[in-house]
Amino acid sequence: MLDLPEQFLTLQTPRLILRKMGLEDAEDIFAYASDPQTTAYTLWDYHRSIDDTYDYLHNFVWEIYRSGKGMCWGIVEKESNQLIGSCSLHLTPSHRRAEMGYVLGREYWGQGLMTEASKAAIAFGFHMMFLLRIQAFCVVENVGSARVLEKSGMLFEGILHNYVFTKNRSWDVKMYAVTQPQNIFL
Ligand SMILES: CC(C)(COP(=O)(O)OP(=O)(O)OC[C@H]1O[C@@H](n2cnc3c(N)ncnc32)[C@H](O)[C@@H]1OP(=O)(O)O)[C@@H](O)C(=O)NCCC(=O)NCCS
Repeated sequence: MLDLPEQFLTLQTPRLILRKMGLEDAEDIFAYASDPQTTAYTLWDYHRSIDDTYDYLHNFVWEIYRSGKGMCWGIVEKESNQLIGSCSLHLTPSHRRAEMGYVLGREYWGQGLMTEASKAAIAFGFHMMFLLRIQAFCVVENVGSARVLEKSGMLFEGILHNYVFTKNRSWDVKMYAVTQPQNIFL
């Protein structure tokens, strides 16, 4: 379980700050989460109104903070001080494993920003959460996301058929993971 002082939860990369999200971020989140093109390959549907964003904060983001079962960072672009996306690690504590998920506003795609954020999240997972495995999957059609996972140092482990059912259909996904050698904890 994650029980770290607040100051350890904020991460910095050359262009980004990864930090906890609060109610004051709702408008920025809604700006990218309400774009159907951005959510075409996510498990969740686009936000129809700001109430969907409040639900997301209450039931997903703050639930992670409350339970200590991982971390969900808001991704802030340093230059504009704008919250432009999010990146999360969901823990399965008994197996010292986490699953990563992420989303970025469309106007920020293709600049290497999510690779920058996911590398920071992975480093946090290994060095601060003492994980042995961080995994992530993307639907086969999501070529950009697969590329982020490859560039973040994850290895492709295979295709899981009909792994998720969302948006009225089932999807095959590509599973990626990065692992730490077990014996570093001996
Ligand atoms: C997937 C996503 C996070 C990528 O973020 P990003 O900041 O654009 O990613 P990066 O710039 O770090 O890397 C993207 C890579 O994918 C490549 N790429 C993107 N779309 C592609 C496509 N349709 N075909 C081939 N390559 C593609 C880019 O060229 C880049 O690779 P390169 O650096 O080798 O050129 C972003 O597009 C997004 O938020 N999408 C919507 C939400 C989503 O799909 N989340 C993931 C759910 S699993």
